[in-house]
Amino acid sequence: MAVGVFDSGLGGLTVLDAVQRRLPDVPFVYFGDNANTPYGVRTPDDIFNLTCAATERLWDEGCNLVILACNTASAAALKRMQETWIPKDKRVLGVFVPLIEALTERQWGDNSPPREVSVKHVALFATPATVSSRAFQRELAYRAIGVDVEAQPCGGVVDAIEQGDMVLAEALVRSHVEALQRRMPEPEAAILGCTHYPLMEDIFRAALGPDVSVYSQANLVAESLADYLARRPEMLGTGTESKFLTTGDPARVANKATQFLRRKIDFEAAYPAAT
Ligand code: DGL
Repeated sequence: MAVGVFDSGLGGLTVLDAVQRRLPDVPFVYFGDNANTPYGVRTPDDIFNLTCAATERLWDEGCNLVILACNTASAAALKRMQETWIPKDKRVLGVFVPLIEALTERQWGDNSPPREVSVKHVALFATPATVSSRAFQRELAYRAIGVDVEAQPCGGVVDAIEQGDMVLAEALVRSHVEALQRRMPEPEAAILGCTHYPLMEDIFRAALGPDVSVYSQANLVAESLADYLARRPEMLGTGTESKFLTTGDPARVANKATQFLRRKIDFEAAYPAAT
């Protein structure tokens, strides 16, 4: 039994960390597409093709269930994957729905019609591709009515984090929050709609101020996955080993991952060169 966790790079480690804590007996196989990050500035076709390739690699590891721990892939590719590509015996789940269920005060998997909710003004911070997909607004409209969403495409932040330039990442976060506040001065809730952003959560919180509730995905995804696996234990798959795969340079990626999670992480090449 193993579950796959995919991201374009390091950001999905925030989700991996939370799911591992919540489900300590489940082996997880992480796939970081570090050679192709960032996805947030790519076309929907490109994101679809890269995400399908990574998902297939995780199926090869015996992961019948793959979590797209990447909002950009969840927003730009998941619907098309579910409609055209995923075989019946496999599942691919995204990270938007648990977040929106929490924001709209629903039980996990509650698909009842949309209704009024207490939050009315929501700020969404995400990559340019996620913002232009409007997937967040679409999923929200299935569940809630009367919610005003202002979205800020946070160009440059993922790149800066992947490069390890946290000073630049911090400056960019502050300027994106200011840009959003010019259009929506008093959001009640802010969504960190990219799995890289929890690494900057303190900066978002400080820039937004104490009156804004900040929704970060990792723990919400972990709770909803635990609930899903309790209902669908057969989706645990045949893989037995936890591992970390990357399309980038394993030593360099392992080094960054170890800094981010503050524990030793070893990566291996996702596609080892033929000898
Ligand atoms: N961490 C990803 C997300 O949640 C990907 C960002 C990127 O590659 O641009 O959107």
